[in-house]
Amino acid sequence: MMGNARKQGFTLWMTGLPGSGKSTLSAVLKTKLEKEHGMPVEILDGDEVRKGLSRDLGLSKEDREEHAWRVSFVAKLLSRNGVVAVVALISPYRTSRESAKQMIGPERFVEVYVKASLQACEMRDPKGLYAKARRGEITNMTGIQDPYEEPTDADIVVETEKGTPETSAEFIIKELQRRRKL
Ligand SMILES: Nc1ncnc2c1ncn2[C@@H]1O[C@H](COP(=O)(O)OP(=O)(O)OP(=O)(O)O)[C@@H](O)[C@H]1O
Ligand SMILES: [Mg+2]
Repeated sequence: MMGNARKQGFTLWMTGLPGSGKSTLSAVLKTKLEKEHGMPVEILDGDEVRKGLSRDLGLSKEDREEHAWRVSFVAKLLSRNGVVAVVALISPYRTSRESAKQMIGPERFVEVYVKASLQACEMRDPKGLYAKARRGEITNMTGIQDPYEEPTDADIVVETEKGTPETSAEFIIKELQRRRKL
């Protein structure tokens, strides 16, 4: 539960392959952080941002970097004003994630690697995109045609093949408490 001191905002930057569990976890986390920790939460989900703020962007390396930059910018504004910005973004490039950390401020930035094997993500295929990529109907699929640079020093690594969305979210919360973010 809430401690005595008012907690600071921060950015929970969730990176991982398509289908690894970023959006699923962000929804569970939002409920828990609000209800059990009294924190205001805003989710910045890549898919949603692409319908609005990033509607002019595609899937080239430059556009993916620009997309991450815009999300970082909004996350900075939110997290410096007491909000927990939960970012659910593939963010395949290590340099983009490092830039986000610098823009937001390392003290307010928590990188979470939402980890699942490509095989597991492809089996889940919640949007049918892996199947489309295998059929050649889309050509910029991260993990198939486009790279995913695995985090090497994420603050938290959550292995979503080893638990349910509920237990994975609990694990992240425990790690945040250990780091005195909650
Ligand atoms: N421990 C877990 N945490 C999160 N999701 C899990 C877990 N175990 C199984 N899943 C399942 O994995 C799938 C993850 O899909 P989700 O849409 O959250 O992925 P994503 O990372 O947001 O993908 P994308 O980058 O394409 O948006 C869901 O069907 C979810 O139910
Ligand atoms: Mg998603």
